[in-house]
Amino acid sequence: MGLKILKTSSYLPRNVVTNNDFEKYLDTSDEWISSRTGIKERRFAVDEDTSDLVYKSVDKLNIEDKSKIDLILVATFTSDKAMPTISSSIQKRLGLMEDIFAIDFNMACTGFVAGLKLCEKYLDTGRQAILIGADLISKTLDKNDRGTVVLFGDGAGATLIEKNNKQQYFEIGTRSNDECLKLNGRNIKNESSFISMNGKEVFRFATEVLPVTIEKLLKEKNITIDDIDYVVCHQANYRILNYVAKKTKIQVEKFYMNLDKYGNTSAASIPIVLDEMNSKGLLKQGQRIITIGFGAGLSWVGTILEW
Ligand code: COA
Repeated sequence: MGLKILKTSSYLPRNVVTNNDFEKYLDTSDEWISSRTGIKERRFAVDEDTSDLVYKSVDKLNIEDKSKIDLILVATFTSDKAMPTISSSIQKRLGLMEDIFAIDFNMACTGFVAGLKLCEKYLDTGRQAILIGADLISKTLDKNDRGTVVLFGDGAGATLIEKNNKQQYFEIGTRSNDECLKLNGRNIKNESSFISMNGKEVFRFATEVLPVTIEKLLKEKNITIDDIDYVVCHQANYRILNYVAKKTKIQVEKFYMNLDKYGNTSAASIPIVLDEMNSKGLLKQGQRIITIGFGAGLSWVGTILEW
């Protein structure tokens, strides 16, 4: 059974932090950050929490008929609280029915595409879900760690999804690695921690699994790259995506990127890209888009969306 994205929206906090802002207090430079990552600026929320980003992105979807919605899914690793979930706490504000299934889940940067798989499994044909990827990563960053603080940003992207009766293939992977990308959160002694990462190892992982996942998705659908209009991957680093384009011999122009403006927004990056492409009128009915999320876990999920 397949999925159709009916609507997209996104919300980015207003506060822009540029590479030059980091130059003022860290041993770093715009040149280093831009050339290593492609990132020029990102948003760091000032007086909002993750649930605000989620609510504001979903509100912008302007859903007219809410009676078809059976599921609201929030992919995030930066929820305001351990409980209750964001999805349950905003159900009433969004005017959603009480008999919907409201779930938050954490699959880090893989979350949005993983959420597509959950929609595909849960929904009946003709029924709908709201799937949101949202992360407010700035609250988990050590602002004095130049190795991580320059890479991430805050944001949310929301989609309205309907199940149809076409085939939807997924490529899914997980590989236990607790070390190369982690956030301990609050531990039993009530000490908080910040994101820590072995950038080189994450880079190696991404450049290994992305080309293989693309190849498998094309094979499963029995199509070639010429049948694909765009590749929308998690926006972590432009060098990762350039490498994958080269390795798979896909024109790099097919890889839509906007990480220069927002940095790595984790679960939000793919729906933010889809919304930007949609607003620009780039997405047309019948187009095929490969989309792959990857990140902590290590984990990855890919699928081909038909617009
Ligand atoms: N400014 C200046 N120097 C920096 C820096 C910064 N913001 N961050 C790190 N450095 C320094 C390091 O301290 C190191 O210095 P040293 O050689 O004196 O020890 C040097 O730059 C090289 O660091 P290294 O980590 O080897 O750089 P790199 O070329 O691997 O680039 C990343 C670092 C993080 C940009 C790169 O590894 C990467 O993008 N990895 C993938 C990360 C990712 O996508 N994560 C999210 C996945 S969901």
